[in-house]
Amino acid sequence: MTFLSVNVNKFALIRNARDADLPNLYNISKKCIEYGADGITVHPRPDERHAKFSDLKILKNLTNEYEKVEFNIEGYPSDEFIEKVIDVSPDQVTLVPDPPEALTSSFGWDCEKNKDFLMEVIKRLKDNNIRVSIFINPSTKTLSNLENIKPDRVELYTYDYAKNYQNDKILAVAPYNEVTKYLEKEFPNIELNAGHDLNLDNLDFILKNIPRIKEVSIGHALVCDAIDFGLKETVNKYKQITQR
Ligand code: PXP
Repeated sequence: MTFLSVNVNKFALIRNARDADLPNLYNISKKCIEYGADGITVHPRPDERHAKFSDLKILKNLTNEYEKVEFNIEGYPSDEFIEKVIDVSPDQVTLVPDPPEALTSSFGWDCEKNKDFLMEVIKRLKDNNIRVSIFINPSTKTLSNLENIKPDRVELYTYDYAKNYQNDKILAVAPYNEVTKYLEKEFPNIELNAGHDLNLDNLDFILKNIPRIKEVSIGHALVCDAIDFGLKETVNKYKQITQR
């Protein structure tokens, strides 16, 4: 079974379009949980155009209401981000290397170039009992120094998989299988997450190929599906896949 963490950023984007606090992020996240989500993810960006830093404590209190539901915060580890994350103390933080103006996360960490930075940041977060995942490309070339960087998990960036899935799903998943095998052999204690552009079409195949994936975080497609099917049915559809 894989954990389904619903990324509620796009609900926050709609909320931010008006002053009426609609949809209310606490309520919509609670519904996601009641409908079966195993976790809630937000990605507060410096301009707060999606989730805001003021949402974090509210969502942490919500996930605390449930024994097994986790709260995951994604973001670039600026000093401000780290301080706020430590203050909220989520179950997991996912570090992404994207610059402040990025539309969305579009690449993983280069562990060669960022070794010292990641080591320092991860130590700080782990010292505060927060599980740390780092966003990675589906390529072993960018994965040096993991023995020093010591993340608890890595999150496979699945944009390429989703893009290539339409044409040739076996080819699309191949680099992800390769990275997974490398991690299994060299770093068996590092657990695996996956995210970005996963949807009702492509989710099942990657989970069948890489059953080790512990958690997927899904936002954009799930919110779009909710327009078609309604939130309850949508979360159910994703849950049926992650539970297989
Ligand atoms: N993982 C990370 C690190 C992300 O930045 C995002 C988007 O915020 C996601 C997963 C979810 O991607 P999507 O919205 O395409 O499902």
